[in-house]
Amino acid sequence: MNPDNFPSSQYTWAGNFSEPMDDLVKRYTASVGFDQRMWRQDIRGSLAHARMLARQGIIAAEDLADIQRGMAQIVGEIESGAFVWSLDFEDVHLNIEKRLTALVGDAGKRLHTGRSRNDQVATDLRLYLRDAIDDLQVLLGQFQTALLDLAEREADTPMPGFTHLQVAQPITFGHHVLAWYEMTRRDAERLAEVRKRTNRLPLGAAALAGTTYPIDREFVAAELGFDGVCENSLDAVSDRDFAVEFCAAAALLMMHISRMSEELVLWMNPRFGFVKIADRFCTGSSIMPQKKNPDVPELARGKTGRVYGHLAALLTLMKGQPLAYNKDNQEDKEPLFDAVDTVSDTLRVFTAMIPGVATRPQAMGEALRQGFATATDLADYLARKGLPFRDAHQAVGLAVRRAEDLGVELPRLSLSELQSFSPMIDEDVFSVLSVEGSLAARKHVGGTAPEQVRAAIARARARA
Ligand code: ARG
Repeated sequence: MNPDNFPSSQYTWAGNFSEPMDDLVKRYTASVGFDQRMWRQDIRGSLAHARMLARQGIIAAEDLADIQRGMAQIVGEIESGAFVWSLDFEDVHLNIEKRLTALVGDAGKRLHTGRSRNDQVATDLRLYLRDAIDDLQVLLGQFQTALLDLAEREADTPMPGFTHLQVAQPITFGHHVLAWYEMTRRDAERLAEVRKRTNRLPLGAAALAGTTYPIDREFVAAELGFDGVCENSLDAVSDRDFAVEFCAAAALLMMHISRMSEELVLWMNPRFGFVKIADRFCTGSSIMPQKKNPDVPELARGKTGRVYGHLAALLTLMKGQPLAYNKDNQEDKEPLFDAVDTVSDTLRVFTAMIPGVATRPQAMGEALRQGFATATDLADYLARKGLPFRDAHQAVGLAVRRAEDLGVELPRLSLSELQSFSPMIDEDVFSVLSVEGSLAARKHVGGTAPEQVRAAIARARARA
């Protein structure tokens, strides 16, 4: 390579370079393949920056007009697919700037005054994530509505509640679904929290130390809808804690969906047989003709691991970086984008699937009876009559053993048989031992009584 033949003007930054970049290095260091998805944010940020430059008299009004005209054309080209993305220009920022300069000349070259790609990329990423969070909140709201509709439909449907995956006490299916809903409420809160800290403007930090031009950062922040500016230029260009926080919130959201998935998979197993999922959300086996597999919840459970991985990737990406910007940070995008995509798709498919979850009350009733689910109600009944709870627990334990020996459910024991375990037992015991009685008795806020389930749904709908 003859250094004299090297057209350094081809590269934006190569004035000081004596040979072109190695092809492998070009491919290795480029990010345009994945960061082009931020093109709208990049243009929005550039236009706000240009308006500020003109307002401050740093560039001329004609330059601003040229930049606006050029950017409008670029938007059209990207939307129509005519825009040519080139590896030669490394990333989304330089690709757009190069095209702008080709279209409008010197004004395009003035756009980068008082700015660096370091504060530019941090701004784009924050704008992108803010938009993504807003979209996710809409999807999460739709998922919540689907859960509330299902809970309402099944507010009276008894099913066994489990601890240790053993039948514990009767609950309603609606109550169980409301537990899922509560998880999603906290997920929405967490996303709103992340949005607050994401919504600060890095622009103005320039490469790391700020800039000598008389810029107006507050103006740019207001133009772009940021709540304020990042207060330290070094911190502004370098930290990606907002992306880490988002991945943590996304990981928790996926953890919740994964737990729901695990339950759906179990309940669809014929040994449980509690629910059926509409056929369009299941797949068959290529060899076993009888199979109907819950692929959607299984895949959601699997994709949860992938989002956890993105969280670990971003934490690890950041931990060794000295201030300020390092190229390491280019690796922030793919994990973040994939976390956004995975959560969006998962929410969409779950929202579509939930209305197609059909319960099988008979199977759930069967499980309740076999599991002596109202044994606690009998102990509470004796305690209410004055027997110390530990003694009541003991007496009912013996009664359950007797019923098991006889192969019958508790309410099938005769009154005199029951009285042999405690003389305090009366005729009124049979309503206590019924599933309906057990459910109705838990009528405080947060309890499983159908009236409370309905009240919780009403409160949730009023909040939405
Ligand atoms: N593509 C880069 C990134 O994603 C943009 C910033 C590059 N800045 C630099 N000084 N090399 O982080």
